[in-house]
Amino acid sequence: MARHLVTSAIPYINGIKHLGNLVGSQLPADLYARYLRGRGHEVLFLCATDEHGTPAEIAAQKAGEPVAEYCARMHKVQAELARGFRLSFDHFGRSSSPQNHRLTQHFAGRLDAAGLIAEVTERQVYSVTDGRFLPDRYVEGTCPNCGYDKARGDQCENCTKQLEPTELIRPRSALSGATDLEIRETKHLHLRQSLMRDRLLEWIESRTDWPVLTTSIAKKWLLDGDGLQDRGITRDLDWGIPVRKGDEPWPGMEGKVFYVWFDAPIEYIACAAEWAEAHGLPDSAWERWWRTERGAADVRYTQFMGKDNVPFHTLSFPVTIMGSGEDWKLVDYIKSFNYLTYDGGQFSTSQGRGVFMDQALEILPADYWRWWLLSHAPESGDSEFTWEGFQAGVNKDLADVLGNFVSRITKFCRARWGEAVPDGGEWGARERALAAALEGRLRAYEAAMDAIEVRRAAEALRAIWVMGNEYLQAAAPWATVKTEPETAAMQVRLGLNLVRLHAVLSRPFIPDAAETIMAALRCDDWTWPGGAEEALSVLPPGHGFAVPDLLFRKVSDEEREAWRARFAGAR
Ligand code: 2FM
Ligand code: ZN
Repeated sequence: MARHLVTSAIPYINGIKHLGNLVGSQLPADLYARYLRGRGHEVLFLCATDEHGTPAEIAAQKAGEPVAEYCARMHKVQAELARGFRLSFDHFGRSSSPQNHRLTQHFAGRLDAAGLIAEVTERQVYSVTDGRFLPDRYVEGTCPNCGYDKARGDQCENCTKQLEPTELIRPRSALSGATDLEIRETKHLHLRQSLMRDRLLEWIESRTDWPVLTTSIAKKWLLDGDGLQDRGITRDLDWGIPVRKGDEPWPGMEGKVFYVWFDAPIEYIACAAEWAEAHGLPDSAWERWWRTERGAADVRYTQFMGKDNVPFHTLSFPVTIMGSGEDWKLVDYIKSFNYLTYDGGQFSTSQGRGVFMDQALEILPADYWRWWLLSHAPESGDSEFTWEGFQAGVNKDLADVLGNFVSRITKFCRARWGEAVPDGGEWGARERALAAALEGRLRAYEAAMDAIEVRRAAEALRAIWVMGNEYLQAAAPWATVKTEPETAAMQVRLGLNLVRLHAVLSRPFIPDAAETIMAALRCDDWTWPGGAEEALSVLPPGHGFAVPDLLFRKVSDEEREAWRARFAGAR
């Protein structure tokens, strides 16, 4: 048994996430955490809401709420949706927690002591009308790169170029629309990440097992053109973590807060502290996950995120960790994802295009979405959500293959022997061959899951489901029973055990269906299979069960078309 720390990129607080966001971090992280628990490992799985920065302030302002209240409310909304999707976080924290305030200020103090922080006088956009500086998204204007006229101060949504607010052409305040903007000087802290370039490069090059997507993005930032630049880590905003050096004030930085991307990854640590507090545990309980000298040297730490988050996790956050000079745990493996596109275009939060987490659960239970999204995870490239594809995946894999097998075998048994596992004699050649083939597929499934190759794992699981139907088709106990009732009974006994095995193996993907199956089988033995033969003999003759209700229904053509129309835009 090993110890695994698993974190998902923490979603921004502003608004409900779409299915593209979900499949890019939280959902695969949940799959992996559930798998590891299933294998008997000790797991701490953490996620949180990312509550600072201009997006949070602007969303709160639009909602007409004080930002603290807005964040508290939206945190509850996101936590409820996470429960709806059965995301099995050990804790769903908040980057605005007191723990994160303390830790962020602590790290800033350590980095300063290590000479990794510079105080820089910057020229920033100041709005006379608003009486304040306008960092990041508080300025809008025309993109100097592509001419898009709604580019934001941090990035152009149209061409994705990262921008400085001062680069925008014809800038205006996103708060008031005011155009009487000036450039004024203001002092900020910069993280001198360039000083750590060689150390980062050495570290990343030593990670030979990481996905190419992760290392290629990291290396691009380290080696290309302007290389690893020092970054501003403070902002002129009210909402955020006040700039301090640990417990001490930071002279000249009064009224400023840390930049959201500085404090957000530190929340991975703070979240563990929040988890301990929520369970009445001492600090040692979370430190054994995070401090290598207090037990975390034995922990394997895996992070999940979309590709746009990779630079922050391979470069800036490691600078924070390494630069502190303390024994904080560095990530062992970074699993990153491409994008899921929606029906010939992009998911768009601003245009309400695509399916959002709340809407998905309104139309179908979590397992349908979990299965489709995970079996189409955008790993090797972007993947596309289409309603045809979704309908086909659900109807074929879930209803025709898995659901049908479970239903056929349990119903046939009930009709012929009643609701208890029949006895019947020893296995024959067909059963031994099935067990041997299953053995190979089990190990293939495990290998894909261990490597966090999500699509390959889904394929391996689907192949195991298919074996049930194929076996049943070949053995045909409904025919055998007429001439060899003992053999038919044995075949059904094996079939029912295969149903149980399906539940155990499928739980990371479709936890509700797995639990429904196990409840119907009156079985609480979730032990991960060792050998296939043993795993197919867990339910003994005479063990009572009930035929489960329909596991998965089909999606009709009418529904498919109605949903396509409903989610085309303008939420
Ligand atoms: O892209 C996002 O949704 C960010 N809120 C992710 C932050 S992950 C980490 F740094 F905490
Ligand atoms: Zn642009």
